[in-house]
Amino acid sequence: MTLDLRDYIATVPNYPEPGVMFRDISPLMANGEAYRYATDLLVDYARSKDVEMIVGPEARGFIVGCPVAYELGVGFAPARKEGKLPRETVKATYELEYGESALYLHKDAIKPGQRVLVTDDLLATGGTISATIKLVEALGGVVVGTAFMIELKDLNGRDKIKGYDIFSLMEY
Ligand code: PRP
Ligand code: ADE
Repeated sequence: MTLDLRDYIATVPNYPEPGVMFRDISPLMANGEAYRYATDLLVDYARSKDVEMIVGPEARGFIVGCPVAYELGVGFAPARKEGKLPRETVKATYELEYGESALYLHKDAIKPGQRVLVTDDLLATGGTISATIKLVEALGGVVVGTAFMIELKDLNGRDKIKGYDIFSLMEY
């Protein structure tokens, strides 16, 4: 069975601010067949990289990474925004297509040398993913790949994560 996953992405012009074309994955998630199909493709990629741990940034990185972790039987560590993690953390700041933010990871989230896959719904400017990569590496993890549902080519996010393997299911 082959699905065209683009059929399940809603495009919303000028959201959350003028000039942004928002690519909304919620119709894909709402369709069980499409969500499983997309997840299976990400699982195949993760298997090819011998992934031992998955890290995804709040919030949509969880939606992508958790089902992959479940299927592989590996752990998932959430990279969270300010004030959300209760124990000792490492911090990385970054700029967004719309705004600025910081992400945190619990200090014991990754074991040194662990092979980590970083997941998110979408690669835009690359700020979020490069901050997440920095957090993993600050803890001694080895980022063996990055996986997205969507890559926005025009925003050149891949230039921010040169040298890392990038896998995406759709490009816009
Ligand atoms: C969105 C998206 C990615 C990031 C991509 O998250 O889910 O994480 O932006 O943009 P970038 O490549 O320019 O960094 P957002 O910060 O809006 O948070 P959310 O997942 O909590 O909605
Ligand atoms: N995150 C950053 N840019 C985005 C976009 N254009 N659509 C959806 N999520 C985003």
